[in-house]
Amino acid sequence: MCSRRTTALLTVLATVFQHTAAQILSCADVECPISQGTTAADCIVAGESFNAVGVADLSIEASGFDGLSWTKAVGAGSGGSSDQRLFTQNFYLGHPLGFNPDTGACALFFSRVSDRVKFGDGSPKLSEGTCAQAMTESCVNALIKRANSLDLGSAGSTEAACEKLQNEFSDNLDSECASFATGSRWAGITARPLSGAASPKAITSETNSTSNCWPTLPKSNDLTLVETFNSTGDFQASTLTSNFFGITPILTVLFPGSDNSTAVVTQPEAQLTCVKAIDLTTASRDTQSPKDENDKSNDGGFHLSGSSLPVMWTSIMSVFFFVLLG
Ligand SMILES: *[C@@H]1O[C@H](CO)[C@@H](O)[C@H](O)[C@H]1NC(C)=O
Ligand SMILES: *[C@@H]1O[C@H](CO)[C@@H](O)[C@H](O)[C@H]1NC(C)=O
Ligand SMILES: *[C@@H]1O[C@H](CO)[C@@H](O)[C@H](O)[C@H]1NC(C)=O
Repeated sequence: MCSRRTTALLTVLATVFQHTAAQILSCADVECPISQGTTAADCIVAGESFNAVGVADLSIEASGFDGLSWTKAVGAGSGGSSDQRLFTQNFYLGHPLGFNPDTGACALFFSRVSDRVKFGDGSPKLSEGTCAQAMTESCVNALIKRANSLDLGSAGSTEAACEKLQNEFSDNLDSECASFATGSRWAGITARPLSGAASPKAITSETNSTSNCWPTLPKSNDLTLVETFNSTGDFQASTLTSNFFGITPILTVLFPGSDNSTAVVTQPEAQLTCVKAIDLTTASRDTQSPKDENDKSNDGGFHLSGSSLPVMWTSIMSVFFFVLLG
C-alpha cells in the first residue's frame, strides 16, 4: 500500500520534474561573450557570428544517446542590399565526446512553421516551453506516430532513410497539426543523418581557432553543425522577431541500422524537441532590477531588462552598417 503510494508520488514528481527540465538555456546560461559596450551577445562559433542562442536537452534512453541537446544559434548580417538583412540559423547537436551511435539516426527540421507555433502569449524574445505547449500534445503525438510507423532500416543507408523520412513528412500533414503548417503541407522540411558515413562531423580544435563561444552545457560537450537556414528580411521589428525568436521543431529519429549493427533500438524511436533562441545574456540579466521585472509583467513573467533590447538593436544595426561600409 505504502509503496504504491510512494510510486504514485514519485510519478507525479517525475512528471513535474520533466516539465521544469524542459527549459531552454540562453546565452546567459552558456555564457556567450558580450559585445563591447553593450549587453548583447557576440558568440562566434567556428567563424560564424551569432547574437542569441537557445539550448534544449533531448532525453533519449537508448544507449549511446545520453546527454544530447540541440543548440539553435541565430545571427544577422548584411543582406546584400541596404534594405535587406541576412538572417542565419545554425543548428548544432551538443553531445559527449566520441558520440558515434551504433544505429540509424536522423534529425528532421521543420524550418517553416506558422505563427501559431508559440510558447504562450508572452514576449517571443524570452518565451520558452515544451513542444506540447507550442503545438499541442495531439500534434506532437501524430508526428511521433508517423515517424515510428516508418520502416527506415530497410532503406539501405542512413542517408536514404533520412530522405525517406523527409519525403514522408513533406507529403503528409497530419490533421492534428494542420494549423501549425504554413500551407496544406509542411514547408521547409529537411532531414539530416546523425549516424553513418554521411553524418556531419564535430567541430575540431583545428576549425575552432576563431571561436570565442561554446553554446552548450556541459562545456565538455562536442558540437556538430547539423543544419543551417539562411533567409533575408527587412528591418521591421517583426521580421527580426520571427527570424530570431521563432520556434523550430526538430524530430530526432532513431531506427535499427540496415547493416545488422547491434540492436540499440529494435524499432523506430522518435522524439520532438522545440528549440528557439532566447534574448538573454549575462549582461542583460545583470542589468535587471526587481523594479524592471514588476514593470514588465506583461512579458509573460520572464525577465526583460529595460536596456537589453535597444542595446541589442543598436548592436545589430551597427554590425550591419559596419559590414555595409566595410
Ligand atoms: C572551441 O573553442 C571554445 C571557445 O574557446 C572552447 O570553449 C571549446 O572547448 C573549443 N572546442 C573544441 C572542440 O576545441
Ligand atoms: C548562410 O550564410 C552564412 C553566412 O553568410 C554562410 O557562411 C553559409 O554558407 C550560408 N549557408 C547556406 C546554406 O546558404
Ligand atoms: C543480417 O542478418 C541476417 C540474419 O542473421 C542475415 O540473413 C542478413 O543477410 C544480414 N544482413 C546484412 C546486410 O548483413
